[in-house]
Amino acid sequence: MLKEKLGLNFDFHQASAPLIGLDISSSAVKMVELAETGKGAYRLERYVIEPLPKDAVTDGNISNLEATAETVKRAYKKLGSRFKNVAMALPVAMVITKKIVLPADQREEDMEIQVEAEANQYIPFAMDEVNLDFQIIGPAPSGADEVEVLIAASRKEKVEDRVAVADAAGLKTVIMDVDSYATLEAFGLIAPQLPANGRDQNIAIVDIGAHMMHFYVIRNGQQLFSREQAFGGNQLTQDIQRAFNLSTEEAEAAKRNGGLPDNYEVDVLQPFTETLALEVARALQFFFTSTTHTQVEHILLAGGCALIPGLDEIVAKRTNINTLVANPFSGMGQPAKIRPQQLAADAPMLLIATGLALRRFDP
Ligand SMILES: Nc1ncnc2c1ncn2[C@@H]1O[C@H](COP(=O)(O)OP(=O)(O)OP(=O)(O)O)[C@@H](O)[C@H]1O
Ligand SMILES: [Mg+2]
Repeated sequence: MLKEKLGLNFDFHQASAPLIGLDISSSAVKMVELAETGKGAYRLERYVIEPLPKDAVTDGNISNLEATAETVKRAYKKLGSRFKNVAMALPVAMVITKKIVLPADQREEDMEIQVEAEANQYIPFAMDEVNLDFQIIGPAPSGADEVEVLIAASRKEKVEDRVAVADAAGLKTVIMDVDSYATLEAFGLIAPQLPANGRDQNIAIVDIGAHMMHFYVIRNGQQLFSREQAFGGNQLTQDIQRAFNLSTEEAEAAKRNGGLPDNYEVDVLQPFTETLALEVARALQFFFTSTTHTQVEHILLAGGCALIPGLDEIVAKRTNINTLVANPFSGMGQPAKIRPQQLAADAPMLLIATGLALRRFDP
């Protein structure tokens, strides 16, 4: 389990409430509902990926509240869940986190006051404009009478936009998490697919979606490194549009379902996958130069771009690191109406929604 897991509850939390994981990403609204079948064992009950209209969500901001709420409503209807509670996440870029050290043995109220005073020093907004949350991580290295505390803060409006969208779709936000934490949470479901459950190994998770590439390195459930950059599948869609004179919608559909001219692979797809593999290699280089680590044992590819056929081999060849496509559902049961082939094609895009769905089972 993640030690640094921060519920970023922003005062909504109801312990163990039945809930749906709701990820509002730039290309789609995604929902996942899980059930627990045993200690740490889960079953996928239902999921949905509902495309968002263009520019409804840009750079993690909900630019068009109405269109996004409509999409959430549609997604929820298709999902067919009886739950109304949702766990959502803020993009990591919208959350400021900081570790501080405070005296142990304090009352919760006193700690809150100190956290607020500390936060005041480095958060560039007025305190009444931010949502603040904190979590005690454990004893401080300095001594037994001090504890390390992780503070997270976000602009209120960012939280409120998401809550309002859920609200407009008839859903109740009970948890506001951070997308990076949700991704790490979902990794817990993928770890059993790695040798020795991934223990004592550095594992890179590379989530390449529509407009962003998130790169994390984790070790034993702790995040060692994180980096994000503007790079994603939208770039390939644009290349397809230009090369074959198609609309965005046509290019998007052809990219997923095929039917492009013969020269697509060599002239358009290959240059894109080469750039992508190069970006992964560069991200690894950043990790090595900015930490004391010299090795990464596995690369997990996630996000829609992970579905590009053969990408795992291309990345493995370029980096010399064992590379696999992330599937948080392998090893989980699922209803007969979910076709395994469809699920495999959707799974890499569902890491965040799945990590959020797991919050249902937090102790
Ligand atoms: N089979 C496929 N082959 C190639 N690309 C695909 C495939 N399926 C989806 N994609 C691409 O993946 C992207 C969507 O992936 P994903 O759902 O992970 O993005 P997102 O989370 O909405 O984006 P971001 O994280 O940048 O906000 C789109 O660019 C889409 O075209
Ligand atoms: Mg994404």
